[in-house]
Amino acid sequence: MTAPLRILSVVGARPNFMKIAPFVKAIDRHNASAAGAPEGTVATIRHALVHTGQHYDARMSAAFFDALDIPAPDVDLGIGSGTHAEQVGQTMIAFEKVVRDWRPDWVVVVGDVNATCACSITAKKEHVRLAHIEAGLRSRDLDMPEEINRLVTDRLSDLLLTPDAMSDDNLLREGVPPDRIRRVGNIMIDTLEAHRAKAAALDLAAIVRTHAIDPSHPPAAPRVPFAVLTLHRPSNVDHAEALLPLVDFFVDEVAPRLPLVWAVHPRTRKQLELHGVWDRIRTVPDILLLNPVGYHEMLRLNIGARLMLTDSGGLQEECCVLGTPCITLRETTERPVTLREHGGLSVLAGNDIGRIRTSFAAFMASTSQTTAKQPHRPELWDGHAAERCVQAILEANRVRE
Ligand code: UD1
Repeated sequence: MTAPLRILSVVGARPNFMKIAPFVKAIDRHNASAAGAPEGTVATIRHALVHTGQHYDARMSAAFFDALDIPAPDVDLGIGSGTHAEQVGQTMIAFEKVVRDWRPDWVVVVGDVNATCACSITAKKEHVRLAHIEAGLRSRDLDMPEEINRLVTDRLSDLLLTPDAMSDDNLLREGVPPDRIRRVGNIMIDTLEAHRAKAAALDLAAIVRTHAIDPSHPPAAPRVPFAVLTLHRPSNVDHAEALLPLVDFFVDEVAPRLPLVWAVHPRTRKQLELHGVWDRIRTVPDILLLNPVGYHEMLRLNIGARLMLTDSGGLQEECCVLGTPCITLRETTERPVTLREHGGLSVLAGNDIGRIRTSFAAFMASTSQTTAKQPHRPELWDGHAAERCVQAILEANRVRE
C-alpha cells in the first residue's frame, strides 16, 4: 500500500482564506477518487491546516472559515498582531515545532502575507519541500512588505504554481528553472465561481444593516448606482499626508456624485481615529461605513457596484471577472493582467489626488455607469485552479521519487 502524501498548508490573514478553501476541497475530491482506484495505484493525501493567527478578529478570520466551509485549522499558532519582525519571527518559532512534529512531505503556502514568508523559510530550513500557490506576482516595489514576502517565498519554493503567463515570465527572468513552474490559473476565482450564486442572492439592505459601524443608526441600502471603497495598504493609511487628502477626496468629490460603501479595515479605522477624521466621515450621508464584511457580502457589493476604489490586489482580480471598473489606489500592481492595457478593468491611480480625480472623472463621463458590465476572464481563471494545484504537487512528488 502506498503511504499517503503528507501536506501541511498554511493560512495567516484574510486574503489567504479564499485561496486555501478550494485547495482543501480539491484534496478531498482527490482522496475520494483515490479511494475508488485499484489498491496502491493512487496516493491519498493526508492534509493538515495551520492558521498562524495573523488575522484574529472574528470578522477578519472565523467568519471566512464559516462562509467558505473551511475545516477548523488543525493547529492555530495564535500569533496576532505586531511589527513585521515580531509576526515573522514568532510565526517561524511556532511553525518549526509543528513541522518537526508533523513531518510533512510538502508545505503549501498561498499569497504574500507575513505568514507565507515565515512558513516558507521554516519549511526549507527543515528540509521540507515547498509549494507556493500564486507564485510569480511582482510589483517591483520593495517598499511593499508583500513584495518582500513574494520574493523570499518564490526563491525558496520547489514548486511555483502561477496564475498567469506574466508571472511565469517574471520567474523565468529571475532564473527559476522552468520545470519548477506550473501555470495553474487563479485559485481565488475558484472560490468566486463556487460562491457567486449565493452572493448574488443576498439583499444589499440587509448587508449594510448587519455590518453598519453604528448598529443603533443602521443606514438604508445604498442609492444606486454606488461605488465600493476599501483601503488598507500602509502606504495609503499609515501616514496623514497620504490618508487625509484621500479622505477629503472621498468626502468632498466622490460621495456627492456617487454614494460610497466603505468596508473599513481595522488598520484603517485605527488611523482614521488617530488622525481625528473618523467622526467627520461618520456624518457624511452618502458614505455608508461598514465593519469588515464577509466573503459573500463583499462579492455581493462588488456585483452591485458600478465602480470599485481599492488598494486590494484580490479585489482587482475579482473586479476583472465581475466586470466592475476599478480605480486602483496604488502606484504599482503585482497583477498587471487586471489592467486595462492587458484587457482588464483596472487603472492605476496611486494616492495622487490629481490622478485619482482624472480617473474618477473619466469613469463618470463614460457609459460604464449605465451599460451592462463587461467582464474579462484571463486564461485559466476558470474555477478549476485548485485541482491543477493538487495534480501538480502529486506529479512533482512522483518525479522526485
Ligand atoms: C495584511 C497583509 C496584506 C493583506 C491584508 C488583508 C502582510 C504583510 N500584510 O495586512 O498583504 O492584503 O492583511 O487584510 O501580511 N488587526 C485587527 N484585527 C485583525 C487583524 C489585524 O485589529 O483581525 C489590526 C492589527 O492589530 C494591526 C492592523 O490591523 O494593527 C494591521 O494588521 P496586519 O496583520 O499587520 O496587516 P494588514 O494591514 O491586515
